[in-house]
Amino acid sequence: MIKKVIFISILCLSGAVFTASEKAGEVKPLPKGDPIRGEKLVGSCAACHGADGNSLVGMWPTLAGQRELYLFDQLHHIQEGERVIESMMGLLDDYNDDDLRDMAAYYASQKIKVGQASDENVLLGQTIYRAGNAASGLPACTGCHGPQGKGVNSAGYPALGGQKAEYVVTSLVAYKNKTRGNGEEEGLVMQNVASMLTIEEIQAVANYVSGLY
Ligand code: HEC
Ligand code: HEC
Repeated sequence: MIKKVIFISILCLSGAVFTASEKAGEVKPLPKGDPIRGEKLVGSCAACHGADGNSLVGMWPTLAGQRELYLFDQLHHIQEGERVIESMMGLLDDYNDDDLRDMAAYYASQKIKVGQASDENVLLGQTIYRAGNAASGLPACTGCHGPQGKGVNSAGYPALGGQKAEYVVTSLVAYKNKTRGNGEEEGLVMQNVASMLTIEEIQAVANYVSGLY
């Protein structure tokens, strides 16, 4: 009798496992681009973003090692004019969604070269990044961008580790002024975060992430 009960419960258990894995199999995979094809499409981008996506100038973001889904979303926003970048006007007009996906995959597959943060305000930056600021209600950046600044691809959270400090400042100020991130949920999340940051905190956290890996 006991044996029978055990046998039946094992049967039920394996049945449950089977349905669970069947369900997991139904989850749609994230669209993935082709990095090899993508490399052939980014020739006109190298002057600013670097051939391998490592930008040499602070105002131009590094794209190497950035999250693929985030890159694809941003390329889409830039192409549609939802995110206005003067120096990229019209540049993406001739590309379709598959092209943008492949370009995103190319940059995501490259290795970022992380620089060194300057000592000046790095401790304040670290506190903001890791703990937020209880007094203003600012959440820790780690919650979404990760302890090493690697972001989360499936959630569309971008990597920040090794990004150019100057560009991070520009972005946070743009979210704060609501000139970036209008109209979609991800952008509104960052507008809310940036509204709680002071300019001093923005400069400090930007310096900190530029050396984070
Ligand atoms: C003349 C310089 C220039 C060229 C050429 C250029 N970009 Fe940009 N790009 C920029 C600047 C400046 C920004 C950031 C603007 C800002 O401050 O928001 C940017 C931002 C981006 C971003 C958003 C990055 C992020 O972290 O959100 C992506 C993606 C991007 N560019 C891809 C491309 C691709 C692909 C090409 C080639 C088809 C290209 N860019 C060509 C200057 C350039
Ligand atoms: C609740 C999740 C969440 C938290 C917390 C958060 N972020 Fe973000 N962050 C996002 C998302 C989502 C985006 C993409 C927004 C978009 O599409 O424009 C983003 C984008 C950014 C960008 C633009 C990256 C680029 O390549 O252009 C910067 C810079 C940034 N966050 C900095 C921070 C800092 C600094 C903190 C902590 C003070 C922080 N974030 C906290 C979710 C978050």
